[in-house]
Amino acid sequence: MSLLADLKILYHFTMKPIRGRDHAARLESFYSGQAEAYDDFRRRLLQGRQELWDALEVPAGGVWVDMGGGTGANLEYFGDRIGQLRKVYVVDLARSLLNVAQRRIEQRGWTNAETVEADATRYQPLEAPVDVVTFSYSLTMIPDWFAALENACAMLRPGGQIGVVDFYVSRKYPAEGLRRHSWFNRSFWPVWFSGDNVYPCKDHLPYLQQHFETLRLEERRAKVPYMPLVRTPYYLFVGRKKNRP
Ligand SMILES: C[S@@+](CC[C@H](N)C(=O)[O-])C[C@H]1O[C@@H](n2cnc3c(N)ncnc32)[C@H](O)[C@@H]1O
Repeated sequence: MSLLADLKILYHFTMKPIRGRDHAARLESFYSGQAEAYDDFRRRLLQGRQELWDALEVPAGGVWVDMGGGTGANLEYFGDRIGQLRKVYVVDLARSLLNVAQRRIEQRGWTNAETVEADATRYQPLEAPVDVVTFSYSLTMIPDWFAALENACAMLRPGGQIGVVDFYVSRKYPAEGLRRHSWFNRSFWPVWFSGDNVYPCKDHLPYLQQHFETLRLEERRAKVPYMPLVRTPYYLFVGRKKNRP
């Protein structure tokens, strides 16, 4: 961690305009200048990923698809279990982040891992149906997030698992058992994140619970680097594809 690297990331977060005619171009515009410094800053900002990977059940010989997998940092969280898998796909639309993932895969000698430049709302791997699909802090960046979840559900085998960790806000009147965030949290975080085209949403969690059997759900708050007075809400969800819709 260096102050200079952090300043560069903060510049991209707060000042650099995001341009582009379509979603992929806007992602590349946002990430291309920060791809190399991405992992260090996001390790502090994007919490709960290690726990999510620890909670997932991926059978030996299984296939795992990480949607919006970026630099492939999540493969590190998965550790030695990578070797037991038949295939791992890191799917993303931002070429500069996938280049970092590709380098990581080659350096680690993960011959069963592959990067794929594709849209999470449409991509289907050859091996489908697969065992596990994950979204770590990517659902909030996918405008058609419901299409991405439908697509994930379509590629999962019955009983396969979905893992999601991401920022969110609660509904004003959440379902029983779910947390209710204050007006400040429900109003501030969507506005604050929207500058970077990140959209913490009140509907992701209810949608996940509606479409998958909930195996684990934790609603938490995370520290934000350089913002000592606030905590941003995030959740960790592990679900199972139902045998029937
Ligand atoms: C905040 S980053 C998280 C990256 C990674 N999952 C992690 O935990 O470090 C969100 C990622 O979602 C990707 N993304 C956004 N929309 C996408 C889409 N429609 N299809 C594939 N990837 C997408 C972005 O390019 C970016 O890499």
